[in-house]
Order: sequence, then C-alpha cells, then structure tokens
Amino acid sequence: MNKINHIAIIMDGNGRWAKNHGVDRIEGHNAGVKAVRKTIKACKKFNIQYLTLYAFSTENWKRSKREVTGLMSLLSSFLDSTLDELMESDISLRAIGQLDSLPYIVKKKLNSVIKKTKNNKSGVCCLALSYGGRAEIVDTTKKIAQLAKDNKLKISDIDEDLFSQNLYAPDIPNPELIIRTSGEFRISNFLLWQLSYSEFYISDILWPDFDEEELKKAIDNYNARNRRFGGREEE
Ligand code: IPE
Ligand code: IPE
Ligand code: MG
Repeated sequence: MNKINHIAIIMDGNGRWAKNHGVDRIEGHNAGVKAVRKTIKACKKFNIQYLTLYAFSTENWKRSKREVTGLMSLLSSFLDSTLDELMESDISLRAIGQLDSLPYIVKKKLNSVIKKTKNNKSGVCCLALSYGGRAEIVDTTKKIAQLAKDNKLKISDIDEDLFSQNLYAPDIPNPELIIRTSGEFRISNFLLWQLSYSEFYISDILWPDFDEEELKKAIDNYNARNRRFGGREEE
C-alpha cells in the first residue's frame, strides 16, 4: 500500500455553492473556511504529514474588489481563530506565494501564526496565498541567477535538486496526491514544478461540502493505484 505524506488541494467551487444556496459569494467562501478546518483535522486523523491548500492564486487578484477584500478579511479572521486549534492539534502553519502582495495586516497575522506554531510536530498545513506556479518558477530562477551573479554557484551547479532547493518551501516534499473539488479538470497554475508526478483526484463535491468521508475516498482511490514514474511495474 502506498503511503501518502503530502496532499495538495485546489479548493474550488465556493461560488457555485453560494449560488446553489441563493447566498452571496462571500458566504460561499465563509463555508469554505469551515471545510478547511475539517480537512486539517481529517488529515491529522489519517496521518497525512503535509497538507497544502490553494487558497488564493496570483490570478484571483483579477476578481472584483469586493470579493478580494472579502477573501482577505476571511483570511484574517481565520488566522485569528485557528491558532488555538493548530496548537491543540500540534500542527504548524506555513505559507507559499508572493506573500508581500498580501495586505499588511494579513501578512502580520500570518507571520505571527507561523512563528507561534513553528515547533509543532504532528503535521504541516501550508497555505498557498497569492500563489502562482509560474511565479514560483520565475522567483526561483531569479534567486538562482542572483547566486550565480554573486559567484556563489556555477552555472554547471544548476540541476533539478538545486532548483528544488530554491523554491518557496524547499523542505516540503512533493505531493503524492492532488485533489481538485467541484469537478474541474484543471491545474490553474498550482505547484507546476512539484506536481510533475503527482496523482490527480477530481471530486465532484463543491469545496464547502468537502469532508472527512470525501478525503478518505480520495486516499483510498490513490492507494489502489500503481505509480511507475516512467519505469516498469515491479514484478
Ligand atoms: C474557490 O472557489 C475559492 C477561490 C478561488 C478563492 P471559487 O470562488 O473559484 O468558486 P467557483 O469556481 O466560482 O464556484
Ligand atoms: C483555483 O481556482 C484557485 C484556488 C482554488 C485558490 P479558480 O476558480 O481561481 O480557478 P479557475 O479560474 O477555475 O481556473
Ligand atoms: Mg473557481
């Protein structure tokens, strides 16, 4: 049986959930936050060490000012209220993305929760915020170019390992499984480097309705697969 160390989730469908319930999109995002809390707990229960949640993409800045502001304020209140839960469940918070473009207050709260949960050992919850896979690759390239310019490395030192070591969170392993909710078959600029050999699971459930049972289905489905990484199945 395959062991999953890291699950990454594209949490999609909050807007459609809101529409189905005849409420404002922000209410859909609010319901989405509840699903986030449930999913963090469920991952701990299933012994998943790393959970990366795609919460806001570099492209999501294109949404209406009202929606972006609503999302940032939800993020801010999530950070306020989640600290106790993370401490209690011994989970550390991390973040990847162009974090400097987040509002000052969100950045401040984010850094504070990251700092306070730093030594928690039972799991890692990594939020992808203002995150784009292409932006991460470009930012990584800039970092490496600067190192080369400063004579800290030679061009011939650049390989896949060195590139991986300069990503936003180099210590977090690649996800074995990526889940996207709401039935969409798209990667939407998520973890482009890290997903090269991840297994995909598409759930028809809209993100606010995602729960432990649906997570278990995705894990069971993954565990029934054969991963060959371009090689041959072992006999
Ligand atoms: C996902 O839900 C949450 C974010 C992208 C922030 P959406 O807001 O994309 O929901 P749909 O796709 O419109 O249903
Ligand atoms: C992807 O969902 C981003 C997040 C879940 C944060 P989107 O709803 O933004 O993606 P598209 O527009 O369907 O590709
Ligand atoms: Mg969407």
